[in-house]
Amino acid sequence: MQKWLRIELRDSSCTPSPLIVRSYQRNRKTRGLLGFGILVQSVLPDPQLDLRLSRLRMPIIEVRNLTKHFGVGEMAVEVLKGVNLQIEEGEFVALMGPSGSGKSTLMNIIGGIEPPSSGQVLLDGMDIGKLDDEQRTLLRRRRVGFIFQAFNLIPTLNAIENVSLPLQLDGVPWKQAQERAQIALQRVEMGHRLDHVPSKLSGGEQQRVAIARALAIEPVILLADEPTGNLDSRQSSRVTELLRDLAMYSRQTIIMVTHDATVARTAFRLLKFKDGNIERDIAQEDFEANASVFHASSVQNATG
Ligand SMILES: Nc1ncnc2c1ncn2[C@@H]1O[C@H](COP(=O)(O)OP(=O)(O)OP(=O)(O)O)[C@@H](O)[C@H]1O
Ligand SMILES: [Mg+2]
Repeated sequence: MQKWLRIELRDSSCTPSPLIVRSYQRNRKTRGLLGFGILVQSVLPDPQLDLRLSRLRMPIIEVRNLTKHFGVGEMAVEVLKGVNLQIEEGEFVALMGPSGSGKSTLMNIIGGIEPPSSGQVLLDGMDIGKLDDEQRTLLRRRRVGFIFQAFNLIPTLNAIENVSLPLQLDGVPWKQAQERAQIALQRVEMGHRLDHVPSKLSGGEQQRVAIARALAIEPVILLADEPTGNLDSRQSSRVTELLRDLAMYSRQTIIMVTHDATVARTAFRLLKFKDGNIERDIAQEDFEANASVFHASSVQNATG
């Protein structure tokens, strides 16, 4: 069902302001068609305006003082050192940084796969640390799509079975799950390999199946850990265009880890990670002025 809200803002003297903000209700089915977000029809200079608008928007991902260490005592390794981060709906964020700096660890914690040592992750305002196992499983199945660095395909299932399995686990009828899986595989040009098991696919093809599996559930948040690491440049730009379109037109929120400067430049925002924390946070309009950041130390190791 389609619904939308009309909000009239008033200025501080309570005179109705000519600013009208329309906000479409979060409805994932219609979102892509209608466009989701806030349309400002007319704006008069109003010093309170930014403040009021920012209150209407809530980050879909919020990370607060996040730390993570592995091991105990003298053997303990501190991997995340108090990360703070806010990402809004529809953002497409590239995460770069040296190998071993903690990028995958951060993604795993945001996706509820790994618990933090301290701090919080809020998804749509919900503290995932407070969810029980079942709620966390549902979150991963319905709202958060993962493209893992190591693919994590099930070796005994063919491509279409790997992609349709999460849908079926979520109660989607078999036929519908097959159709959605096939469409997702076609989007990554894997429509011709539906019945191949992972061992009969190349590394890049397995990666594309893993991408299709994440796309098929139409996640609100997509966490992609080096999604183009095994792809040639044509496939790589196809996949990054696909991700950018999902963020732009379907308002999916995407964090993409990459070591590839060309891939990172397709995002709307760059986070440069170093030694367990965010070193730089650069908006797309400032990419050119910060061109060196895309290359500096992106492939050195964390201590380099
Ligand atoms: N389960 C674990 N137990 C112990 N140490 C771990 C574990 N997982 C990760 N680490 C360590 O945490 C550090 C960060 O690892 P992480 O995988 O997050 O790095 P990364 O930035 O994703 O690197 P890459 O670019 O190579 O994928 C590494 O030094 C790694 O050895
Ligand atoms: Mg990694």
